[in-house]
Amino acid sequence: MCGIVGYIGELDAKEILLKGLEKLEYRGYDSAGIAVRNDEGITVFKEKGRIADLRSAVDNEVKAPVGIGHTRWATHGVPNRLNAHPHQSASGRFTLVHNGVIENYHLLQKAYLKGIQVASDTDTEIIVQLVDLFVSEGLTTEEAFRKTLSLLHGSYALALLDSEAADIIYVAKNKSPLLVGVADDFNVIASDAMAMLQVTNQFVELHDKEVVLVRKNGVTITNLEGTVIERAPYTAELDASDIEKGTYPHYMLKEMDEQPAVMRKIIQAYANEAGELEIEADILEALQQADRLYIIAAGTSYHAGLVGKQYFEKIAQIPVEVHISSEFGYNMPLLSEKPLFIFISQSGETADSRQVLVKIKEMGHKALTVTNVAGSTLSRESDYTLLLHAGPEIAVASTKAYVAQIAVLAVAAYVTAQAKGIAVDFDLKQELAIVANNIQAVIERKADLEQIAEDFLKIARNAFFIGRNVDFYVSLEGALKLKEISYIQAEGFAGGELKHGTIALIEEGTPVFALVSQKDVALNIRGNVKEVTARGANACIISMEGMAEDDDTFILPATHPLLTPLVTVVPLQLISYYAALHRRCDVDKPRNLAKSVTVE
Ligand code: F6R
Repeated sequence: MCGIVGYIGELDAKEILLKGLEKLEYRGYDSAGIAVRNDEGITVFKEKGRIADLRSAVDNEVKAPVGIGHTRWATHGVPNRLNAHPHQSASGRFTLVHNGVIENYHLLQKAYLKGIQVASDTDTEIIVQLVDLFVSEGLTTEEAFRKTLSLLHGSYALALLDSEAADIIYVAKNKSPLLVGVADDFNVIASDAMAMLQVTNQFVELHDKEVVLVRKNGVTITNLEGTVIERAPYTAELDASDIEKGTYPHYMLKEMDEQPAVMRKIIQAYANEAGELEIEADILEALQQADRLYIIAAGTSYHAGLVGKQYFEKIAQIPVEVHISSEFGYNMPLLSEKPLFIFISQSGETADSRQVLVKIKEMGHKALTVTNVAGSTLSRESDYTLLLHAGPEIAVASTKAYVAQIAVLAVAAYVTAQAKGIAVDFDLKQELAIVANNIQAVIERKADLEQIAEDFLKIARNAFFIGRNVDFYVSLEGALKLKEISYIQAEGFAGGELKHGTIALIEEGTPVFALVSQKDVALNIRGNVKEVTARGANACIISMEGMAEDDDTFILPATHPLLTPLVTVVPLQLISYYAALHRRCDVDKPRNLAKSVTVE
């Protein structure tokens, strides 16, 4: 949801900024820009569209050792060149990039900026105009920056250039992520370490409401009152090759192919020296103490949470509620006496989830975050973290993080059950190893899945996904995958529920994907398939060995009944991928979306 970068050093900043923005494009890709400063002043390049469009607009003759950059996911103002960042103040002295949303920008504009002509429809421009105003009234740039920050309500990661100060980038954050990357003779800023791995792997975390002065030879972190804060850098444990596509045409395909390896990584990461599954003692204690778990998440992570509920209830015997984060914070149910909150978030930055975290922390409750990103906001602000170990997920459509979330929740539930002395009749480690092989077997049948996409979805306007029990939850995820990357309208349904209204939408040729992986409801879901085929639907039955029938479209290898979502989702991911390819959609960067949704 917008990404920002900055560089101050001796080299030409342009290429470092552009490369950084390319790595942040997953955060938004409707427009982009950079501003660079040299002895002649500040030059801004910006364009509607992708970083590639910005690249062609940049004048290579302009060389500058300082610069800031931005890739945008529009919130205020349509995606066009005018609303693209960086934004400049009316005098032209100050230039700013911003990730976040300023909720009171209209009030600030009315209160302070009467008579000042604004050029864009953005909330961001108000910030840079305020800094300029306060400087014109006699404050130094730093004082004006601080005063402006004290007036802002909302979320921001900001980087500001002053055309009259060659050696400094003014930086601040609140709720939106931002890191400073450090080195000997340059320093950088980035919304995500990935963007600056090209030049450093040493990063310093910034906290909300800190003001940071970034110079070529040093970084000064202060709180809003101006007190200097010392904070040591950490080494980003990322390999630059983890974030490359390699020979793959799309990140999504690479990430789906990585799923067996992710399963094995999770087994390894959560096994102790004796080879037994284990989680940290304090997390185990918190899970055991809880009388009810509240899983809070959005999108695909919410779908993983629905599966996770099964594990905690069926294996560890703890009641669980699963809630959509954007609803929960504003419509809280009656809580149990000893709740534990579990936030599931690939990015660890989702604003909808964070607002819940802030509220439940204020209420004095404990939180566990299950995330792919160590050091992310949700992880830092929770009491406990369980990492997904899935490696960076770049494609906007989540695939490997979903299976990792489910596997990690299974591990947590399993270990909790053992600690509570509940008899568990299967070996999770062994079953997850089988899952890894089964996913591999599905992935090796890509050609069949591409054919299914062709046969069922080539000319489809809409599609349905049905299942019962955990297959229903995977149906929700299958529908989300298909709609977000292929733009085919899709709905996931509990098989038995379809006939209570939605079946009216079934007509000749409507594709219906039915999952059959749960023995106790296999006959019921097959009955539901008959109901839709009798009305003309084109049914694609994806079943599991042991309950498959001759005419089924795709048969999956037998998997432990609780773990089937880890396998049943894979053909749905691949079918969606090929459907999107056939329709010439931008698989990795679907329209209107962004990977990390840092606005509510
Ligand atoms: C869909 C997808 C989204 C995310 C959702 C939550 O493929 O990726 O639905 O799952 O935006 O994001 P995180 O998991 O980062 O909190």
